[in-house]
Amino acid sequence: STDVQGDLAQVLVTEEQIHDKLRELARRIEADYEGEDLLLVGVLKGAVMVMADLSRELRNHVEIDWMAVSSYGNSTKSSGVVQIRKDLDTPLEGRHVLIVEDIIDSGLTLSWLLENFAARGAASIEVCALLRKPDAAKVEIDCRYVGFDIPNEFVVGYGLDYAERYRNLRDVAVLAPHVYA
Ligand code: PRP
Ligand code: MN
Ligand code: MG
Repeated sequence: STDVQGDLAQVLVTEEQIHDKLRELARRIEADYEGEDLLLVGVLKGAVMVMADLSRELRNHVEIDWMAVSSYGNSTKSSGVVQIRKDLDTPLEGRHVLIVEDIIDSGLTLSWLLENFAARGAASIEVCALLRKPDAAKVEIDCRYVGFDIPNEFVVGYGLDYAERYRNLRDVAVLAPHVYA
């Protein structure tokens, strides 16, 4: 259980591909929000790595806040029930908000968050997700900034966990089925 590499079936997105993509997305975000004060909202815990790397690519003024929600618990399937574990510190009234996520899987988490945020009176709300699984969508999410569309397999690394493990991997990889079988 000390050898993490043995738990992985295949690397899907490398560290280098991730950083190239985040740099590209950061250039678009800078242009789109030119002259605006932007509030980045990271969705804990999965979005920690994306937030750390994306925010450091941005050259405009941003604030950073966090919301902790969980729908997966220790399972590989979304429960569809989203729980707030930590709310924002920042009022959203009149703010330009960019939600930063690691992955859109079923879309249930973001669909719930978008509705929740809209009710708080934000001036605008957009989504940036490093990964998206088009074949897993249960609800369509209007996501302005997408890093990679990936196949419908359970992936870990770069913030994404299985039972709280693997978040610290540098790459995004497919978890070997023997790990959760
Ligand atoms: C994961 C992931 C996204 C969400 C995506 O979070 O980080 O937030 O699920 O799935 P969905 O589109 O099917 O809703 P999780 O609930 O596992 O919490 P975590 O970020 O703390 O791992
Ligand atoms: Mn998450
Ligand atoms: Mg998780």
